[in-house]
Amino acid sequence: MSDEPTNTSEKLVELAKRRGYFFQSAGAYGGVGGFYTFGPQGAALKGNLEDAWRERYAVGEGHMEIDAPTIMPEPVFEASGHLEGFDDMLIECPDCGQSHRADHLVEDNTEYEDAESLPIPEVEEIVAEYELVCPSCGAGLAGVAVENFNLMFATNIGPGDSQPGYMRPETAQGIFVEFPRLKEYARNQLPFGVTQIGRAYRNEISPRRSIIRTREFTQAELELFLDPEEDEPDLSAVADVAVTLYPASEQQADDGTTVETTIGEAVDDGTIADPWIGYFLGISQEWYESVGVDMDRFRFRQHLSGERAHYASDCWDAESEIDGNWIEIAGFAHRGNYDLSKHQAHSDERFTIFKQYDEPKTVERATVDPDMSYLGPEFGGDAGTVVEKLEELAERDRAAFDGDTVEIDLEGETHEIPVERCGFSVDEETIAGEHIVPNVVEPSFGVDRLVYTVLHHAYREDEVDGEERTYLELDPEVAPTFVGVFPLQSDDDLEREAQAIAAELRAEGLSVTYDDSGNIGRRYRRQDEVGTPFCVTVDYESLDDEAVTVRERDSTAQKRLPIDELPETLAALRAGDLAFDDLE
Ligand code: ATP
Ligand code: GLY
Repeated sequence: MSDEPTNTSEKLVELAKRRGYFFQSAGAYGGVGGFYTFGPQGAALKGNLEDAWRERYAVGEGHMEIDAPTIMPEPVFEASGHLEGFDDMLIECPDCGQSHRADHLVEDNTEYEDAESLPIPEVEEIVAEYELVCPSCGAGLAGVAVENFNLMFATNIGPGDSQPGYMRPETAQGIFVEFPRLKEYARNQLPFGVTQIGRAYRNEISPRRSIIRTREFTQAELELFLDPEEDEPDLSAVADVAVTLYPASEQQADDGTTVETTIGEAVDDGTIADPWIGYFLGISQEWYESVGVDMDRFRFRQHLSGERAHYASDCWDAESEIDGNWIEIAGFAHRGNYDLSKHQAHSDERFTIFKQYDEPKTVERATVDPDMSYLGPEFGGDAGTVVEKLEELAERDRAAFDGDTVEIDLEGETHEIPVERCGFSVDEETIAGEHIVPNVVEPSFGVDRLVYTVLHHAYREDEVDGEERTYLELDPEVAPTFVGVFPLQSDDDLEREAQAIAAELRAEGLSVTYDDSGNIGRRYRRQDEVGTPFCVTVDYESLDDEAVTVRERDSTAQKRLPIDELPETLAALRAGDLAFDDLE
């Protein structure tokens, strides 16, 4: 069998390693599944995409960015529900001992599309019914138990094991736990948003498809805190944005298809139930397009109810098409007040916002002030509990105090207490507002999967002067290198001039690579393969006419430009203010 790559992914992974985009880490020690290093090109592309994300979702929306630790103590994840419920379905081959994700095994080998949403017994039945086998050794898996496997990496904080900690499985918790302080920075006003770009860790059962499923990856997340009753997005800003949606109802229908619509229509007809989710899908459609995702290979898919994370009440994924498969590149979840309520219940801090009324309200409040000289002798050590029960009853059902006695249940026994001994009264009180637990809407982006998508969608092959060529049609704003500068030949004068031009372009803020090795055709091909949009070549004529050849990556067209106009012209090309075709 030939080792030639057969699809774009295989070619891309080979190119990524050869040209310094990404490769498996610690190769000198055999490597370990699920960990990748971004080489010089990959780190630059990833950094540019993160900058573009920050520009749109933090700066562009007026939100705050924070940078929290990646290890947090156990109580955080007890409260968040990750300790209890952040599981994937594990099936272990009894013959070779390899672990596999049972839901992926089912999806890859049967017509079931979303096995993650099925209960474990049903997945076990499907494994048996379809006689699924171990992908590693071919042994039958029918009858093998499927188990929940928690994806968090555990560690100990400090020596000994008295303080367990976990690598965060999502950057979001680093934001939620700091809510009591963050709300102060937001001057206690809703809505406000907090973003974070950072590493997340998941002990994936079977990491695969290079950087698409790794054990350490980068997320860019926005947590938007909202007043559930009042805060509405500016939908007019995205109403006309055209989107391809794959709603849950279509996924469940026999002949279900994707729906071409606009954000405005989809929110109006209820396909997208929450306007905030609609807003974020709209701006994200435009943002993904701006960084080079091919919109013909992009859609938003709604989660089926069994597929949603433990905290989410509705969720849509952004998906990109990679060699015929759809992969999730971002999730847009309505988390309700799940996280803040949990942290409020598990900690001593207030995860609420004080919501001031427009006008102070006068309310009636029922209270008790029991006669302890009666309750003490009557109930002994239980008198305190009786007081609490009376207070709770007064708040809940003031009519209970209408008669001569009230009834209190104490360890299954009913006791009658004279109302005159309760100190019951109803007083008027003026209140300025109330403490509310905000709702959270969360766009959560995977940066590694975005890097992969952008590269895959930019991958091109063509023929130039009878020779096969591979190039990456990366957007100039995210391409790791914007311009390559070459002396035509090995010559001191040409090299000096080319170095001076490279320095001047760097001073203009452009990312420049200088290359004087090999023939000029090879140097062009090298830059084409890493996706450098332009190359500048200094030749002997340049020394006389003060002009250089500028070559465009995609068309390979060449134009002659005066050296003194280069920085300004190239900066305008990068910003999209000028097109290469328009150059004289
Ligand atoms: P999947 O179903 O593919 O495991 P998920 O539903 O668990 O993904 P989320 O929990 O919604 O993913 O995480 C938010 C984003 O983080 C995803 O859209 C994805 O881009 C990214 N992400 C999640 N897990 C990984 C991983 N193992 N490797 C790389 N990126 C990931
Ligand atoms: N914060 C969303 C996720 O990582 O799943």
